[in-house]
Amino acid sequence: MTTFRLTQISDTHLGRKLPKLIQNFERIAEHIDVTRPDLVLNSGDIGFDGPNQPDDLEFARSLHDAMPVACRYLPGNHDIGDNPTQIGPVPAQLVSEKGRQAYISVFGDDRWRFEAAGWCFIGLNSLVMNSGLVSEAEQFDWLAGELASAGGKPVALFLHKPIFLNAPDDPEIEASSFRYVPMPARRRLVEMLRSVDLRLVGSGHVHQRRDFTFGHTRHVWSPSAGFMISDAKQERIGIKEVGLVEYRFQPDGFEVRHVRAPGQIDVDLDEIWTKEHKAPAPAKAPATI
Ligand SMILES: [Fe+2]
Ligand SMILES: [Fe+2]
Repeated sequence: MTTFRLTQISDTHLGRKLPKLIQNFERIAEHIDVTRPDLVLNSGDIGFDGPNQPDDLEFARSLHDAMPVACRYLPGNHDIGDNPTQIGPVPAQLVSEKGRQAYISVFGDDRWRFEAAGWCFIGLNSLVMNSGLVSEAEQFDWLAGELASAGGKPVALFLHKPIFLNAPDDPEIEASSFRYVPMPARRRLVEMLRSVDLRLVGSGHVHQRRDFTFGHTRHVWSPSAGFMISDAKQERIGIKEVGLVEYRFQPDGFEVRHVRAPGQIDVDLDEIWTKEHKAPAPAKAPATI
């Protein structure tokens, strides 16, 4: 295969009682049925509230299984819980091994590597980073082995949280520490990635579309497939819209297309609730999106 077409969707936040998010997913599924990429990747926050509502994960999996294309998955903080950070408050839903195992039972491995079109693709669980869980150390050991065997191939890395805002040594500040791979795990990850030809980092989590290059690595933030967050609740960094990202990889390079599926609607977080699924009381801690 000299061309590999990958479609990244993210932050679908699916649950049976959230019809607007289901409708946006259906529009994406129709688009994928037409475009038929080689692989669909959901880069996390697949379900709406996996740690408290395991059915959200199973329901989300069933919708992905109905698509006519192979899918891979990565966990998000709303699937397995969130990272502790050095500087911010402890997340209301802290990542746990129990949550990780529940995710794995529905979606399979929370980290993976495969090769296609002369590229090495690596997916990481970004939520265990800085957690101190055994799986954090295991993942770093595993990653070291995978990077050592990349054999000079260009590497595309995918994970739920962006590694950083603009640069690896951006200071970690309380107001946004939940948004990026936390220190000191970020420093370790960046250091390890220096050993390979890292061309692309694809992430989700922020619910904003963004595309920038640092060094010779392109960083692509996929928007949410389901909803955006208002400026009153979240600073504007990139483009606030729903959509997806299409990639075309070839041995000598890759292309990125920022697209929206026909019929996708820009739903705001505040519009997704139904009578059966009421909005939670405003949190004292900052929104973890
Ligand atoms: Fe999300
Ligand atoms: Fe997230």
